[in-house]
Amino acid sequence: MDVEQLNERGELRHLISLAELTRSHLELIIEHASRYLTPAGQPAPRDDILEGRTVANLFFEASTRTRASFELAAKRLRADVLNLDVNTSSRAKGESIMDTIFTLQAMQVDIFVVRDASTGVPARIAQQVAPHVCVLNAGESDVSHPTQGLLDLMTIQQRKGDVRNLAVAIVGDIKHSRVARSAYQALSKFGVGELRLIGPAELLPEDDEFRGAIRQTDLTAGLDGADVIMALRLQKERFAQLSDIPDPQEYYRRYGLTLERLELAKRDAIVMHPGPMNRGVEIESAVADGPQSVIQEQVTNGLAIRMAVLALIQRHLGGPRAGAA
Ligand code: CP
Repeated sequence: MDVEQLNERGELRHLISLAELTRSHLELIIEHASRYLTPAGQPAPRDDILEGRTVANLFFEASTRTRASFELAAKRLRADVLNLDVNTSSRAKGESIMDTIFTLQAMQVDIFVVRDASTGVPARIAQQVAPHVCVLNAGESDVSHPTQGLLDLMTIQQRKGDVRNLAVAIVGDIKHSRVARSAYQALSKFGVGELRLIGPAELLPEDDEFRGAIRQTDLTAGLDGADVIMALRLQKERFAQLSDIPDPQEYYRRYGLTLERLELAKRDAIVMHPGPMNRGVEIESAVADGPQSVIQEQVTNGLAIRMAVLALIQRHLGGPRAGAA
């Protein structure tokens, strides 16, 4: 990646990838996020730190959790929020993404939140926007999903403490997963005890990726004694050919996370899933909704992490825009 994520004062300006950030940067974001957690049933946390600023959500790929949480995060920090409808935007008429960005920048958008199916799009935008403007990667092809990596790390630390003592098993379509790549980057910085990548051989990543991780095609062996299990869906949209997509029933028979298989892990193991879930394909409903599942906590932490990232990049923006009420 050829873009500097920090400004000249060492403050976060863009968030494109966790790979180039330090452990301290991740700790700062997670510590900040913990301030945006309140008990369920109480009013949602709010802050006026982005008053007078404008956030544009540009999702050129489907999303529920990331898009909704970035929108809520920006609104709870008092920003003006623009959600571009891709289907009715001029990109559908052939406008380039950079022309769309420059158009919105001319309307004084300060922060772009971008999801795209192509590799390199968030970095390319970050390289070309005006010096005060910030870009946040909300999911880039199979490469990077940094706020997801942060929320996953935060959830694991909340529930299990120091990751150096943990065996973390990621199960499923790891080859096509930006979630797995960002989780690996986050967990590696904190010295995760053991990272196991479990799935069919054709859905495991190349050998030169995920250095130090254990690759395993046998789910039974892979789950043995695990502290954390992260189930991933089959990312059908990223397979080169439809005929390469595994049959769902056969996949569930071999790699589905069932209650019976969960018993192979430690008794207090937690179950994670980034969503969206395909119940009965990569995970049994009884596991997804069961007592060991922390899937809804991941969603709650995701909103807090996105509030924290927006609040921290506000330091680059330099306080509320002049003239803000
Ligand atoms: N985990 C995640 O990125 O979910 P969405 O695709 O719904 O945003």
